[in-house]
Amino acid sequence: MTILITGGAGYIGSHTARLLTELGRDVVVLDTLERGYRDALNDIDLVVGDIADQRTVGKVCRKYRVESVIHFAAYKAVGESMTEPLRYYQNNVAASISLVESLLENEVTRIVFSSSAAVYGTPDTAPVNEDAPVRPESVYAQTKADVERFLGASDAAGLTSVCLRYFNAAGAHESGDMGEDWSATENLVPVVMKVLFGAQTSLEVFGDDYPTADGSCVRDYVHVSDLADAHVKALDYLASGGKSLICNVGTGQGTSVKQLMAMTESVTGRALPHHITGRRAGDPAAVFADPTLMRAVLGWRATRDLREIISSAYRWHERHPDGYDR
Ligand SMILES: NC(=O)c1ccc[n+]([C@@H]2O[C@H](COP(=O)([O-])OP(=O)(O)OC[C@H]3O[C@@H](n4cnc5c(N)ncnc54)[C@H](O)[C@@H]3O)[C@@H](O)[C@H]2O)c1
Repeated sequence: MTILITGGAGYIGSHTARLLTELGRDVVVLDTLERGYRDALNDIDLVVGDIADQRTVGKVCRKYRVESVIHFAAYKAVGESMTEPLRYYQNNVAASISLVESLLENEVTRIVFSSSAAVYGTPDTAPVNEDAPVRPESVYAQTKADVERFLGASDAAGLTSVCLRYFNAAGAHESGDMGEDWSATENLVPVVMKVLFGAQTSLEVFGDDYPTADGSCVRDYVHVSDLADAHVKALDYLASGGKSLICNVGTGQGTSVKQLMAMTESVTGRALPHHITGRRAGDPAAVFADPTLMRAVLGWRATRDLREIISSAYRWHERHPDGYDR
């Protein structure tokens, strides 16, 4: 019996696929490779295809005797989602509905879904728990909220789901041979690495006049390997008969942009050129998770800190200055 990992050639999916195989579980990845890399998977089985292609999904389910799914496949760039909304609704929402239809036809009834803390928009308070209102502020975040809703409604069709609302995924595999592609992300840690390795001249800090301790924005950075472990816990929870659930995945620890910069300089011993510019529209001052539910129900907690996030990302970029080969 096999775990199907959609989008498993991407950043978080490839780390999760690696962890599952290290644990002796059988996995198969379904990915278009549009934004993922074969080299991220070593010898893990990969089917190159689209989750919206029901024939392919059906074939994979039957051939590998798929028993559960981790559904990472999606587009994730907030800015792009605002200029190409139909593409985002098509790939993130319509394709997810098509995927679930094929899964149910093949009697696959357990799914773990990559949602995002972006569904909270600008939360009223931090830490944020799962009861906070869902108020997406981008098409991307709306697509995540839509799929959460759809999966919840699909309980009636026999599906059980865990929607994991990730906070900020960061860092790289401890081996230094897997990590995030800095050409395809707007996230802070890869941009910091770009500056350190000279692919960008200076880090732009968007505002230092927020009502936070040092004036810069505060976020919750979760190591990608901890995130991978959260998926294993979610799969095991569903396999043991757990009911559908929506859960934050964060450390519960807020880190400011300036703290992250200082940690980078301390870990790498290198100066990080930066300049302060104005606030970015729609950036909340502080967003970090209340991880109580994840701890209580799934028994998960983050075990890697900010130092490990920075040092692992640095190791990856140092060894792979051009990322994976295309
Ligand atoms: N990276 C983060 O900080 C973060 C935060 C919150 C949520 N998420 C969500 O987690 C998931 C994984 O994120 P990531 O950072 O690994 O992204 P990623 O872009 O590295 O990986 C996504 C993968 O999905 C594949 N894909 C996209 N559409 C597909 C389709 N229709 N059929 C098959 N494959 C398809 C891409 O080729 C890529 O390999 C996404 O759903 C993303 O929205 C990410």
